[in-house]
Amino acid sequence: MKPEILVLGSVWLPEVRERVQAAFDCHFMAAIPPADDAALAAVAPRVRAVLTTGTIGVTPALIDALPALEIVSVHGVGVDAVPLDYLAARGIPVTNTPDVLTDDVADFAVTLLLAAVRRLPLLDRYVRDGRWPAKAPLTQARALRGKVAGIVGFGRIGQAVAQRLQSFGIEIRYYQRSEGPAPQRRAASLLALAHESDMLVLCMPGGAATKGMIGREVIDALGPDGTLVNIARGSVVDEAALVAALQEGRVGAAGLDVFEREPAVPAALLALDNVVLTPHVGSFTVEARQAMGRLCVDNLVAHFAGAPLPSPVR
Ligand code: 8YV
Repeated sequence: MKPEILVLGSVWLPEVRERVQAAFDCHFMAAIPPADDAALAAVAPRVRAVLTTGTIGVTPALIDALPALEIVSVHGVGVDAVPLDYLAARGIPVTNTPDVLTDDVADFAVTLLLAAVRRLPLLDRYVRDGRWPAKAPLTQARALRGKVAGIVGFGRIGQAVAQRLQSFGIEIRYYQRSEGPAPQRRAASLLALAHESDMLVLCMPGGAATKGMIGREVIDALGPDGTLVNIARGSVVDEAALVAALQEGRVGAAGLDVFEREPAVPAALLALDNVVLTPHVGSFTVEARQAMGRLCVDNLVAHFAGAPLPSPVR
């Protein structure tokens, strides 16, 4: 008999679905069901694993509803939506999908940065709206060469972003609590990094430790010519403070792939010309999603075979 598992979310590629269905008896649910959900109640006592996405995660209430739960496999690198301590206290391992998405997420951070600095959406609209033949006025963007990029969170993705930006002639600095790899310069504080940088690229993990880390003071330190890029989590930015700063010209531009209350995006942001907005798609390539899908299923297969987990969260 195949182990019964709960599969949360709607992002699964057909090949991932096929593979997971071949190995497990799957109960698919688009989101975390409410506590009184009848479909969940019917299968809950037999569910031995949860396969979930980085944004859906799991909740303590769902964990409590699954008495036979042995493992949680996350399709994504971020595990801020998973109560790690709660699961660890119950001896339930958690796996995620690092590395396989690093390049594509880093590429996307650079894409957003370039689009925001060179104001791609504005230029695209200029052409589409027929304003070019009329030579409607346009102001020049700023160059990248010679500028300073401050990377917040200098892990795998932050370092991959740095590597790419260096090829544009951009100087790299970073901030995180611990010292990162030489020869990059760690700023004395987040505020110091924002003061020193022309652009800030947010690559830190989400969760309680980073919640609201980018607030008014940091945004103002980045300044009217500064650009903010967020490919991390919406929770790391005080969104209301950012919207106000963009509206008042206290910060120059922003490229945002993640938001505080996804998929809701504040109407005030939609009305701004100095922002580029994307729907949380940093890892949304065929290659990354295939590799993430394979790895999250591999973790479950290894667990039920009694083999070492390929990518446990430590
Ligand atoms: C995905 C992500 O959006 O890896 C992460 O942490 O945020 C993304 O790659 C999500 O996890 C897809 O399941």
